[in-house]
Amino acid sequence: QLSALETRFEDTIARSERIEPRDWMPEGYRKTLVRQIAQHAHSEIIGMQPEGNWITRAPSLRRKAILLAKVQDEAGHGLYLYSAAETLGVSRGELTEMLIEGRQKYSSIFNYPTLSYADVGTIGWLVDGAAICNQVPLCRTSYGPYGRAMIRVCKEESFHQRQGYELLMTMMQGTDEQRAMVQESVDRFWWPALMMFGPPDEDSPNTAQSMAWGIKRNTNDDLRQRFVDMSVPQAEALGVTFPDPDLKWNAERGHHDFGEPDWEEFMQVVKGNGPCNAQRIAHRRAAHEDGAWVREAALAFADRQREAARA
Ligand code: 3HC
Repeated sequence: QLSALETRFEDTIARSERIEPRDWMPEGYRKTLVRQIAQHAHSEIIGMQPEGNWITRAPSLRRKAILLAKVQDEAGHGLYLYSAAETLGVSRGELTEMLIEGRQKYSSIFNYPTLSYADVGTIGWLVDGAAICNQVPLCRTSYGPYGRAMIRVCKEESFHQRQGYELLMTMMQGTDEQRAMVQESVDRFWWPALMMFGPPDEDSPNTAQSMAWGIKRNTNDDLRQRFVDMSVPQAEALGVTFPDPDLKWNAERGHHDFGEPDWEEFMQVVKGNGPCNAQRIAHRRAAHEDGAWVREAALAFADRQREAARA
């Protein structure tokens, strides 16, 4: 019996078609998806903190309105992704508990501080740009609910990237101080943005299996290279440089060569020893605890509605 189900699963993956929640799937496939989708959802929610830090200090009503819209989008992305994870039998409540107890990961990039207003632009341009490189292939991931969530996320992500780039372009056409602020921000975020794609392929324990299952469509290094190649002309148009002396076009490869990220720093940040890890988790825990009364009230209201419907 199992072999027939297994064969059907393998055939569906081989045809690059979607596995849906009610289809049989290997336990390892389900666990990998819960792990990745949960961490993706956590990243969206924690990712609201760094740039949210600048909402009250945005320099104009227009910038404040754009930033508010973007941060709200991230919350919505988290919602889609928790909903996709719930189709695999986990609940957002338990995933949130694991997150605030430090038992689940989220993207390393959000453990870096946003020290200047230019960071709002740099996060849009580079962090959301990296996220787009990573999320566009995920639109074709083999698990239906995840791939479909990505289609909507990617449309909104391109707005996030454009608004960040336009913000930086405006600052680059301003004063010397504004140009210096942009360059300093890019210098701080460039290497952590490259680390978002994960460890090098040879140090990635999950990539091979995730590729075989069609969960990942490209390896970490492929997407990192794609991001570097995309970002160099954008930096030139902006008039900023990247803090990597080894970054240069390699005509033979048809790609840019670039230096090695600091993988020790990456491991430290993933382990919880980054500049802002404790602050991000504490903030998320406080929001969860402060919001408990809202959840209780909503559940009580839903119970009363059900009783009224039965009466
Ligand atoms: N931050 C934290 N942990 C990371 C990481 C990162 N940047 N990159 C890798 N890791 C972890 C992995 O989770 C894995 O640990 P685990 O087995 O305990 O989960 C370990 O390091 C080894 O890495 P692998 O490459 O083997 O792991 P994956 O196959 O899961 O690949 C990934 C990592 C490429 C991040 C993949 O999980 C993925 O594509 N995730 C979905 C996309 C995502 O989460 N993006 C995060 C940014 S979301 C965002 O930017 C929002 C935007 O709106 C700003």
